[in-house]
Amino acid sequence: PSSAKAASYSGSPAPVDAPKQPFVIGVSGGTASGKTTVCDMIIQQLHDHRVVLVNQDSFYRGLTAEESERVQDYNFDHPEAFDTEQLLECMNQLKSGQSVNVPIYDFKNHRRCSESFRKVNASDVIILEGILVFHDQRVRDLMDMKIFVDTDADIRLARRIRRDTVERGRDVNSVLEQYGRFVKPAFDDFVLPSKKYADVIIPRGGDNHVAIDLIVQHIRTKLGQHDLCKIYPNVYVIHSTFQI
Ligand code: ADP
Ligand code: C5P
Repeated sequence: PSSAKAASYSGSPAPVDAPKQPFVIGVSGGTASGKTTVCDMIIQQLHDHRVVLVNQDSFYRGLTAEESERVQDYNFDHPEAFDTEQLLECMNQLKSGQSVNVPIYDFKNHRRCSESFRKVNASDVIILEGILVFHDQRVRDLMDMKIFVDTDADIRLARRIRRDTVERGRDVNSVLEQYGRFVKPAFDDFVLPSKKYADVIIPRGGDNHVAIDLIVQHIRTKLGQHDLCKIYPNVYVIHSTFQI
C-alpha cells in the first residue's frame, strides 16, 4: 500500500509580497569536469525562469608584481587564490534581491579587467560554479542544492590541455607542468574532500542528460512550491513524505 502525506499548517498569513528568496545552486568538480557545460544545460532548460550564473573564477585575486613575474610558481588551485570575502558579499547581495557587478577575469594575463564588470541582476535561480565552491562553509551555507560534477581525471586533463592551449594562451608543456605541480595535488587536497557535501553527484558531466533532467525537475518543484505559497499565503507547506 502507498500513502502520501503532505503536512500543511494554516497559521498567521505570510505577507503576500514577501521578498522572493532565490534558489541557490552550487556546482563544483575538478578542472574541466564540465561544470560550465552542466550549468549551461540547466539554464537552457529553465528558459522560462530568470537564472543567473556566477563563476568563482571571477573572484580570483589579482597578483602582486612579484607574483606576476613568477606566475609559473603561483598556485591558482589553492583556496587562498580566491577573494572569498568578495564572493560572499556578491552572493549575499544577489540573495537579497539586489543586482551586483561581478569582476571579469582574464586567464591570459592572470588578472581582473580593472575597468569592466558584468552586471548580474536579481533572479529566481542563482548558480554558483567553481572548483572550490564547497570549500568554505559560509559559501556552502548559501546553497539550497549542491551538485558535484564527477568526470575521470584523464578526460579532464585532455580537455584542459585543449582548452588552455586554444582559449587561455598556454603551451602544452606549461599546462602539464602546472597540472602535476598544483592542479592535481589541490584536487586531491581540497576539491575531492569537498565532494562529501554534494547532494547530487553527476557522473560524466554534460553527457548525463538523465541527471540534468532530474535536477531541472527538482528545481521546478522548488520554484513551484514558492509560487504556491504566494497564491495561498495562509497555507505553509512544511514538507511532503511519500511512503511506498
Ligand atoms: P569546467 O567548467 O568544469 O572547467 P567546461 O564545461 O568549461 O568545464 O568544459 C571544459 C572543456 O571541455 C570545454 O572546452 C568544453 O567544451 C569541453 N567539454 C565539456 N563537456 C564536454 C563533453 N561532455 N564532451 C566533450 N567536451 C566537453
Ligand atoms: O574552469 P576551471 O574550473 O578549469 O578553472 C579553474 C582552473 O583555472 C584552476 O584549475 C586553475 O589552475 C586555472 N587557472 C589558471 N590560470 C589562472 C587562473 C586559474 O590556469 N590565471
